[in-house]
Amino acid sequence: MARQKITVQDVQQAKDERRKLVMMTAYDYPFGLMADEAEVDIVLVGDSLGMVVMGLQGTTEVTMEHMIHHIKAVMRGCKTCLVVGDMPFMSYNTTIPAAIANAGRLLKEGGCDVVKLEGGADFAPTVQAIVKAGIPVQGHIGLTPQTASALGGFKMQGKSAAAAKQIIDDARALEQAGAFSIILEAVPAPLGKLVAEAVRVPVIGIGAGPDVDGQVLVTHDMVGLFDRFVPKFVKQYTRIRPAILEALAEYRQEVREAKFPGPEHSFKMSAETLAELKKMIA
Ligand code: KIV
Repeated sequence: MARQKITVQDVQQAKDERRKLVMMTAYDYPFGLMADEAEVDIVLVGDSLGMVVMGLQGTTEVTMEHMIHHIKAVMRGCKTCLVVGDMPFMSYNTTIPAAIANAGRLLKEGGCDVVKLEGGADFAPTVQAIVKAGIPVQGHIGLTPQTASALGGFKMQGKSAAAAKQIIDDARALEQAGAFSIILEAVPAPLGKLVAEAVRVPVIGIGAGPDVDGQVLVTHDMVGLFDRFVPKFVKQYTRIRPAILEALAEYRQEVREAKFPGPEHSFKMSAETLAELKKMIA
């Protein structure tokens, strides 16, 4: 039987039934299709696209237009995963009406199912307002890449007891505000466990250890397609970059040596038509 579309309710049920959630990022049609085929639960069209697809140094330059363009591409391929559209930097940080309007654009113009935004207790009123407008919100706490410079870089968060307590408070504030799930990034594994125990909603970890309700990875990191750096918490399940480079080198060589295209990759013309054509151009 064909798989049914995953809903926010299914995501909560997974935590209630202690089933781990599987989440990955995707930025285009082929990866949207593969996410579906691999029966992943949740797909994030993350603003990490700024780094792994657009070649930017960080995520702050990513715009609403970039996000909508990539969400639309993913949605053409991905029909059954729950698709999360990431709210780019400054699309929700100025005013609550702007945040609601931009969240609405990701759903109406991009076609995703829900949105994600970075920030803890300080953003609880924003989350609450978007949820009240009818749009499910996933929170994102711990290391928040859009404000990484304010956090001292791409570093583990929640090192001291006080900082760890703040992260638990942030998770509780997001849950209270109505977030349906929370991404928890780059924190010590024992803190990951405590956060997942502190809230009823699913906590999905990225560098938060095994004792959370699910895992997310940036797909280009996981498949070895992004070469600039590999964060400690990433497992590379394959390395497709060397395979692609090998194919490109072989292609270059065959074109230069006139070995490609061969007869099997060329269209035919009958001898009569060719002879007639040659007469016409003589
Ligand atoms: O943009 C993204 O890919 C993310 C993940 C790191 C969770 O926010």
